[in-house]
Amino acid sequence: MATLGSSQLRVGRASVTEVPAIKPARRFSIPSRVGFRVQASESQQEPDLSVCVNGLKMPNPFVIGSGPPGTNYTVMKRAFDEGWGAVIAKTVSLDASQVINVTPRYARLRAGVNGSAKGQIIGWENIELISDRPLETMLKEFKQLKVEYPDRILIASIMEEYDKAAWEELIDRVEETGIDAIEINFSCPHGMPERKMGAAMGQDCGLLEEVCGWINAKATVPVWAKMTPNITDITEPARVALRSGCEGVSAINTIMSVMGINLDTLRPEPCVEGYSTPGGYSSKAVHPIALAKVMNIAKMMKSEFSEKEYSLSGIGGVETGGDAAEFILLGANTVQVCTGVMMHGYGLVKDLCKELKDFMKKHGFSSIEDFRGVSLDYFTTHTDLVRRQKEAIELRKAIRKGLQSDKDWTGDGFVKESESMVSN
Ligand SMILES: Cc1cc2nc3c(=O)[nH]c(=O)nc-3n(C[C@H](O)[C@H](O)[C@H](O)COP(=O)(O)O)c2cc1C
Repeated sequence: MATLGSSQLRVGRASVTEVPAIKPARRFSIPSRVGFRVQASESQQEPDLSVCVNGLKMPNPFVIGSGPPGTNYTVMKRAFDEGWGAVIAKTVSLDASQVINVTPRYARLRAGVNGSAKGQIIGWENIELISDRPLETMLKEFKQLKVEYPDRILIASIMEEYDKAAWEELIDRVEETGIDAIEINFSCPHGMPERKMGAAMGQDCGLLEEVCGWINAKATVPVWAKMTPNITDITEPARVALRSGCEGVSAINTIMSVMGINLDTLRPEPCVEGYSTPGGYSSKAVHPIALAKVMNIAKMMKSEFSEKEYSLSGIGGVETGGDAAEFILLGANTVQVCTGVMMHGYGLVKDLCKELKDFMKKHGFSSIEDFRGVSLDYFTTHTDLVRRQKEAIELRKAIRKGLQSDKDWTGDGFVKESESMVSN
């Protein structure tokens, strides 16, 4: 297993000395302004959304999550033009000829009575595989994008079988294009596990440790490991990935799901020639689950990995700046969006930036680091909640205004004593 020491840490494609590192002490510290509402004034400077993650400088923390929004040159170029902080391309493997997609491959869940066609889309299931485009084509497009957008962050998402030589070849080939970092898809829940890829690796910590060791011995750019939520304790694979040399973890990929059964045809959705297969669930409905997983990983990282610059990318159901702020408040450095782009288009990033800035102005935060991780310390155990509540009730009783008993009324203070027990 090849674990990098902090002096060997891969920082973008530059050396550690070239790029100022984020001070580790700032990472999860609680800024003194927390809890104060600061009135935005005319003279207040615009909040700074830029982030520097594992040495990768981004204009904002909003990253296109691997999937259809990063599937070819045209759409990735569009993402850069609209202002996304970084783009993670659709996952590639060495041999795309083995990747055969079906249609329909999506099914949606709407809010409202019986999934009314007018209800808001809250859940999205897909049975889409990784990229079915030839690797050579994708690599050519990565290269072209890096020539046209040298200062923007392009991240390759990769997946392979349990084969050291295949991983090494794939890493070599994507790195040759000039991409800035690699995200490892250890998390696709459908299709690929049949070939022992994706979630099949991410759910097996022994396998994950070995494969991460191969990857990190080879890669020269930062590596993020993308976690599957389809596991009892997501902190276990996250810990293994970081201990095995990955610079960051991303969470979550989609949640294994069955969207529903058509009550007329009695067939499951999405229905391909009368049959279906469980797929991956995303969009608004997964946001609370993603927050819980990111919170668990962030707590683990805070207690076990504090001295090195590790990063965390929050993913799942982001459609507003507020959704993104929640991930950052839990410790995420960046926030990925996939289904949100499929529903609202690439221009969504402008709303996300505006809404995140509005949130920051409301609280007087001038940078992302000002509030990253500050809500993490407000999570505790249920036993501790009970203790805190008992103490608080006792304290409230002790300072309760008004008379404790009728025997306490006095003649002189009668009016004041009456007022002390009025509620309005
Ligand atoms: C249609 C579709 C295809 C996806 N393909 C990939 C993929 O190729 N690689 C990957 O790592 N994640 C893939 N994902 C997962 C997303 O990147 C993301 O982790 C997940 O959808 C949750 O985020 P969201 O609610 O913003 O979509 C895909 C998601 C969807 C909806």
